[in-house]
Amino acid sequence: MVARKETRGLTERSELCPRQTERSELRLWRNPLPVKNLFLSPTDGLRRAMEVIDAGRIGMALVVDSDGRLLGTLTDGDVRRHLLGGGGQDERVEKYYCRKPVTATTGYDRAGLARVAEDHGIKLIPFLEDGRPTRLLTPADLEEKDQPAILGGEPAFREPIPVARPTLPSFEEISDELERVLASGIITNGPQVEAFEREAAAWMGTEPENVVAVSSCTTGLVLALSRIEPPGEVVMPSFTYFATGLAATWNRLTPVFVDARPEDFNVDAGAVSEAIGDKTNGAPSAIVGVYIFGCPPPVAELRELADRHGIPLILDAAHAFGAGQDGTPAGRFGDVEVFSLSPTKPVTSGEGGLIVCREEATAADLRRRRNLGLLDSATDPTRGLNGRMSEFNAVLGRASLRHLEKNLQTRRRLVQVYHDELGDTPGLGFQKLPPGAVSTFKDLAVVVDSEKLGMTRDDLAQGLAAENIGTKRYFSPPLHLQRRFAGLSRTVGPLKVTERLADGVLCLPLYSHQEEEDVRRVAATVKRLVAHAEEVNRRLTELRREWE
Ligand SMILES: Cc1ncc(COP(=O)(O)O)c(C=O)c1O
Repeated sequence: MVARKETRGLTERSELCPRQTERSELRLWRNPLPVKNLFLSPTDGLRRAMEVIDAGRIGMALVVDSDGRLLGTLTDGDVRRHLLGGGGQDERVEKYYCRKPVTATTGYDRAGLARVAEDHGIKLIPFLEDGRPTRLLTPADLEEKDQPAILGGEPAFREPIPVARPTLPSFEEISDELERVLASGIITNGPQVEAFEREAAAWMGTEPENVVAVSSCTTGLVLALSRIEPPGEVVMPSFTYFATGLAATWNRLTPVFVDARPEDFNVDAGAVSEAIGDKTNGAPSAIVGVYIFGCPPPVAELRELADRHGIPLILDAAHAFGAGQDGTPAGRFGDVEVFSLSPTKPVTSGEGGLIVCREEATAADLRRRRNLGLLDSATDPTRGLNGRMSEFNAVLGRASLRHLEKNLQTRRRLVQVYHDELGDTPGLGFQKLPPGAVSTFKDLAVVVDSEKLGMTRDDLAQGLAAENIGTKRYFSPPLHLQRRFAGLSRTVGPLKVTERLADGVLCLPLYSHQEEEDVRRVAATVKRLVAHAEEVNRRLTELRREWE
């Protein structure tokens, strides 16, 4: 008999032993004895072998060496045939055992193994770890199971899929430009960066003079907020990435954290207004809004508040290249808006950021601050740092921008698939876009209501990790609960929505070149986990006890 070579997880041995298990006690196949009770040494006599086989009650013993490594199997049929042929009970096991049994190792191919087992009438298959049998696979192990991986089913994906992945141009697409950069010897802050600023400005319907490319969004935010003097308070959401708060504290500004809206997870303009009203000695120095996961914050209301108090509106647009509100693209609402071009963003330059300013003079000042605050040798430097973008990053960013429209369409289509597949799942909510808002869907965020879903957000994430599905708990903990802001910030009101979101939001995999089939499979896996919520919770409790 010859084993199918393509059956992954089988041992290399190509010949199979006849009828590895000869006694059919189905009851026991589901619950076999600890394998150690089945161990025999090759030097044991057949009398001992019969005792072990009888006690094991599965018609088979495992022959192992002194290190517990499997040498082969011995069935009661092998022994009986020998005895019936007139052989003696004192002869050694080593003469009779089968040296080529079917075995399985980690990652075995369930379907392939089931086929081999069926073709050869094998019921129990030793499972080896480092060559040592640790258990016997039973027919139940080989059955097609619609079980979550955390309960022993096959993982939904063989290879891990990350929560986000950059969508990159081909080498051919950018090779000429890269060659030109290399030939020119200008590798930072040169014509590619200028072209990128021009093209980004065109995308947003503004002038190239108003756009400043920088080395990251964090740098851009730090530079934008460095213009606020003297240092005061800046009102911002707590439900955001920590770079938003960091840019303020880096400039010795005091973040004033306010709550978010439950529907779109964006800052609550009413809470911003309350925070400003709550000030006894004058208005804060700025309002900082954020496009959460690419969805615009309430820009009209924030603008109205900023104008009323005569303070700038700065928007952290890290997620927002390609977003818009009522037909106006992101970049055109704040006095300053700062975009991120890091690898998880819809437009990426590897690392990088773009500052877009309402006023040309502001952009000119930021251009200077990007260059350590230097203007020329005759003028004293202002505050600044090295925030320049390299030409290589600009080449990548320009190519990414060329694909933006198509990539945004793909993201929207995939988000719709998630909605179609998971929209009816009780306990799973989606970020709801306000009327007229266009999101980039930098992330696909669901918010878990543990009571209704039957499992917590973190258990769902664990269950998905076992399926090789990457997720992200954005933004948890929220900024007002992070130690790095303790003593450097202020919080207005209980931030109930923020805390609920921080406990409930989970981002599922989404990227611009993702296959629709993958999204469907992720969604089906979420549903399967939810359908097994009780067992999954029980299993995770057990595992956590083991890990402790
Ligand atoms: C809301 C927000 N702001 C700022 C940043 C910082 O962007 P960068 O990595 O380009 O500095 C990020 C990064 O993901 C972000 O999510």
